[in-house]
Amino acid sequence: MKIDSEKQNDIKKALGKRAASLVKNGMIVGLGTGSTANCFIESLIERCKEGLKIEVVSSSTHSLKRAEKGGIPLADMNFITKIDLTVDGADEIDPYNRMIKGGGGALVREKILASSSRQMIVIVDETKLVNQLGDFGLPVEIISFGYSATIFKLKELGYDGELRKLDHELYKTDNGNYIFDIRSPKRFLTPEKDDDVIKKIPGVVDTGFFFNMATSVLVGYANGNVKLRKAR
Ligand code: 5RP
Repeated sequence: MKIDSEKQNDIKKALGKRAASLVKNGMIVGLGTGSTANCFIESLIERCKEGLKIEVVSSSTHSLKRAEKGGIPLADMNFITKIDLTVDGADEIDPYNRMIKGGGGALVREKILASSSRQMIVIVDETKLVNQLGDFGLPVEIISFGYSATIFKLKELGYDGELRKLDHELYKTDNGNYIFDIRSPKRFLTPEKDDDVIKKIPGVVDTGFFFNMATSVLVGYANGNVKLRKAR
């Protein structure tokens, strides 16, 4: 389904606000990346101005800079073992809360944060709800060394796609790696198997599949409602 961009922005703002209302004093909060996560960060900045006392770690330089500019105290992820709550968006989410992420190129750091979090709230508008993962494609982070050989192996296994570009240059993640966007002709019928196969290829850092990570999903609807969705 399609929602016009103005309405979609309003939905994202409502999602960000709702998620920020769930943050409590003393928490270490993980910041996701992307336009929906940005709305969460904006609402969190407001709450901090009103007296909320938290520290944040970030899944991207972009989100980190925004939080820093907004005056939220930053913690160093290299010295954190557990995050209380991470809030992040997603590119697709299925009825079992399996997700595809990485549209913003931050999937590796996002997964480190999500997997280190006691709670992960995913905030998505209803356009992100799918029955089967795959239409979006699958972002895969690969190291730059020997990238042609890595891509050759991916393609040999049937995972066609292309290297992500930005301004006609190869896109580099915050980790200095490339993103190969798999555009499989078919949807992922068994995403866990695909994930295993892809991650076994030397040079692959990680995929944009996120399994068993979301503890709650807030879905924003075109009619303005925000609903908590439970996994099936
Ligand atoms: C970034 C991500 C984002 O969460 C995902 O791309 C959704 O972004 P948006 O909220 O802008 O649609 O995974 O790597």
